[in-house]
Amino acid sequence: MSVSVLAQTLKGSEIIKIGNEINELKRQGQQIANLTIGDFDPNIYPIPSELRDGIIAAYQDNQTNYPPADGMLDLRKQVSAFLAEEHGIQVTANEVLISSGSRPIIYSIFLALVDKGDKVIYPLPSWNNNHYCHITGAEEIQVPTTAENNFLPKAADIAPHLKGATLLCLCSPQNPTGTMFEKADLEEICDLVIAENASRQPGEKPLYIMYDQIYAMLTFGKQHVDPVTLRPELKDYTVYIDGVSKCLAATGVRVGWGFGPENVISKMRSIVGHMGAWAPKAEQVATAKYLQQDEAVHGYLKNFSGRIQEVLSTLYQGFQQLKAEGFAVDAIEPMGAIYLTVKADYIGKTTPEGEVLNSSADINFYLIKTAKVALVPFSAFGTGDDVTWFRASVGTSTLEDIQAMIPRIREALSQLK
Ligand SMILES: Cc1ncc(COP(=O)(O)O)c(C=O)c1O
Repeated sequence: MSVSVLAQTLKGSEIIKIGNEINELKRQGQQIANLTIGDFDPNIYPIPSELRDGIIAAYQDNQTNYPPADGMLDLRKQVSAFLAEEHGIQVTANEVLISSGSRPIIYSIFLALVDKGDKVIYPLPSWNNNHYCHITGAEEIQVPTTAENNFLPKAADIAPHLKGATLLCLCSPQNPTGTMFEKADLEEICDLVIAENASRQPGEKPLYIMYDQIYAMLTFGKQHVDPVTLRPELKDYTVYIDGVSKCLAATGVRVGWGFGPENVISKMRSIVGHMGAWAPKAEQVATAKYLQQDEAVHGYLKNFSGRIQEVLSTLYQGFQQLKAEGFAVDAIEPMGAIYLTVKADYIGKTTPEGEVLNSSADINFYLIKTAKVALVPFSAFGTGDDVTWFRASVGTSTLEDIQAMIPRIREALSQLK
């Protein structure tokens, strides 16, 4: 055994496997519309020019040494002001932690709260919680969700699992579904957490919520809701994930933040410090300056979310049209993020080559080969591979790309018998 048990048992990314298939077809000269990656094509969606110029200026100003362990004070103050203005969330700069994108925040929440064997609850489908559970040795409690509930968990789904649990992972707008919590639904979940914590003994570890709102500024008219705004008594038990990666199309800039109770944030700060997962100093300086430019920020967000919404709606309408024509497809109206939840219910059907599609992965590979469109089956986010729902991610596609793919999907599906 040359590596640790942990390393040996790490699960590979399903999305990377699909990516390999796409790359192989590209090598053969085929053009595939890649709706698999949760990223942006910077030529379609560049970061704000003021942020880009600020980063360059910060390097020219030699902002290249270690940043403070919890992030530049200026940035933490600006994050706190931004959260107050945009979401009415009140946190002090000391309750904010900056890291290199938001993944280290997620990882440090797990390390700060979860002991081996602790129960961690998360919905299916969901993004990456399984990997952090694996790394921390948590007992995973996976809660299946349904299309009728927009693939978000309801209080009744979660209630049977809360006794003694340590962490409840929630995300809205959600990756992979692009759907958002209704206020009443999140309130009911919050009330369960409050009741569970009230039942614990003094000194017992409480139940925490990890609330991932990294897509909260990318919404299409629906109000973003969050636990502490709905139930202020959850402030001591909720740690939030947020940052610039998605709302500023800045996935490669690597500035993320988390916020929550100071006693937890201070431990996460030490963990992020040991990982050395600080955001680069120049990027922090530039982000702090950018967040102060109200007009630029709002102008960018309006334009960016408008464009993403248009592309998602076009794809949604395309699937609705196919459904109306009698194809076994469906889609859930986009609410936020860069994702559309689509269905292609073709398990058991036979391709013109005589192959039977036995799983969502088979359907996906058929669509890649025949329609030149690559999606991600929900099985990559933890559901069974008999579930025929898929994530379509639009950050690397233009409106024209999306318009052109619907006839190809129609043609490919009509060949299945
Ligand atoms: C829900 C969610 N949270 C967090 C992240 C991590 O973002 P970052 O690139 O800032 O690490 C992602 C990235 O895909 C995401 O989808």
